Amino acid sequence: MQTHQYDVVIVGAGGAGMRAALESSARVRTAVISKLFPTRSHTGAAQGGMCAALANVEEDNWEWHTFDTVKGGDYLVDQDAAEVMAKEAIDAVLDLEKMGLPFNRTPEGRIDQRRFGGHTRNHGEAAVRRSCYAADRTGHMILQTLYQQCVKNDVEFFNEFYVLDLLVDHDLATGDVPEGEEVNASGVVAYELATGEIHVFQAKAVVFATGGAGKIYKTTSNAHTLTGDGMALAYRRGIPLEDMEFFQFHPTGLAGLGILLSEAARGEGGILRNSEGERFMERYAPTIKDLAPRDIVARSMANEVREGRGAGPNKDYVLLDLTHLEPAHIDAKLPDITEFARTYLGIEPYTEPVPVYPTAHYAMGGIPTNIEGEVLRNATDVIKGLYAAGEVACVSVHGSNRLGTNSLLDINVFGKRAGKAAAAYAATAPFVELPPNPATRVEAELETIRTRPDGDRVADIRRALQETMDANAQVFRTSESLTQALDDIKALRKRYGAVSVQDKTRTFNTDLLEAVELGFLLDIAETVVVGALNREESRGGHFREDFPDRDDSRFMQHTMAYRRPVAAGAADVAVPGSDAAFRRAEAFDGYQVVLGAKPVTVTRYQPMERKY
Ligand code: FUM
Repeated sequence: MQTHQYDVVIVGAGGAGMRAALESSARVRTAVISKLFPTRSHTGAAQGGMCAALANVEEDNWEWHTFDTVKGGDYLVDQDAAEVMAKEAIDAVLDLEKMGLPFNRTPEGRIDQRRFGGHTRNHGEAAVRRSCYAADRTGHMILQTLYQQCVKNDVEFFNEFYVLDLLVDHDLATGDVPEGEEVNASGVVAYELATGEIHVFQAKAVVFATGGAGKIYKTTSNAHTLTGDGMALAYRRGIPLEDMEFFQFHPTGLAGLGILLSEAARGEGGILRNSEGERFMERYAPTIKDLAPRDIVARSMANEVREGRGAGPNKDYVLLDLTHLEPAHIDAKLPDITEFARTYLGIEPYTEPVPVYPTAHYAMGGIPTNIEGEVLRNATDVIKGLYAAGEVACVSVHGSNRLGTNSLLDINVFGKRAGKAAAAYAATAPFVELPPNPATRVEAELETIRTRPDGDRVADIRRALQETMDANAQVFRTSESLTQALDDIKALRKRYGAVSVQDKTRTFNTDLLEAVELGFLLDIAETVVVGALNREESRGGHFREDFPDRDDSRFMQHTMAYRRPVAAGAADVAVPGSDAAFRRAEAFDGYQVVLGAKPVTVTRYQPMERKY
């Protein structure tokens, strides 16, 4: 085992992690630990843009952007955080421009902007051009730009190191830590892929920037590595996960595959049609039609299919029509996604509409933080020295449904804030003593799985998990479907207890790491389903057919899911801010998930009916 000491340790080298690293490394000794080589991070898969009210091509301002974000999130957004994000968006884009990001330009040489779902002029009058972009590879360009800056600034990377435990001085999952007791982060434990060696990193501040968890679903735009690691590690230490029931389904995944076709296709004029050739979004969102927010478009598409107007031999998808656009325009603005349609479906988008269906894309929920990126242990109190930013975190700027292009913005604004705050904290804070034998837990888990002679296969359990999530916790949900998903997850947890791997070696053992990641996926799936069962209303990305209306009287609050010992009853677990609608405990083998509530911050905008 090797030990290291840094002022700040950042876990994850996507956009949020590297943006945080640029701030932190300029101030204090900083290490970035990543399970991937940084330029392979999933930020690179983001396509259509990063929004900011630059008003480069038409009138716009940050207040309209804030309003759209709040309304898009179906009023579950913390409005103070949304306001910070919309205001700081402008500098966030300009920062990237100064770093050399090759944005598309207007004829006058300004950063060009295009339309995206839910972004409007004057509180919903019409779609507005707010997304700054680099063709349909904006995330790729951001990732490359940030990595170049990190290299230039000598940021220290530990690549292909898997962080497998978070070290704290009081483990909240024991249920024994009194409310008000100070809890401090002291570091992380990581596994080096190349050698199988364990590394303990002691740090004054830890920043989680590990991304999302789309692999709980089978049909997803997310890469194989999006397994919810940071969220699960926090949850295992008793830190709550916020609003996990809200998962975004991006409307335009390539049908049957889930590969992302950017919303930019509709921003550039693409139209969704059903089997009858009808532009069906005119019925669901008469003002902004195909550029309605994703939750509404995804549900409308699924509804067309359910009502028999799906296209194709099995009538199970709809069509994205770009055939009225000039090929030169398609080539200039949408080169990658049109190539995906050719490569993976054999469709020529110049002349044929592309089959599409919603695909699991983004976790609105995550580790709760305040606007400085400090992690919360309940509705109000922070854990000292622990920060989170990007998709792993829930600030909450996306509420129950994120607007497209607000995620590349989120990672830049809150990555920067978390990096700055962590460095400021570490500049004066002392190191917190590590627990005795800090790596024991990780070593025991790895050795148990690695040496188990034979048992259930990782791929089989993972497939079963993804299938039940696709079938029972997707765009439409009911008590019955969610109960089925919960029963399946409990059964899969039992099977996971006997999981084994074929590769028994210690070096480059991805088989072993996929087994560990499967444990994270099960953790995340249970919080999604328990939260979704409890939330007996429909809001944003969470649609309950048995409760089709939004119910602000009971559910205008964030869900907090806590892992606690079996012995603690729901009433025994301190969950500040919780009320009757959130008093739920769900027993699993050896622990329980206890829900609590957290108030939504409302500043300017009272909840209204959401129409587009
Ligand atoms: O459609 C897209 O280009 C995805 C963007 C996003 O998720 O923000």
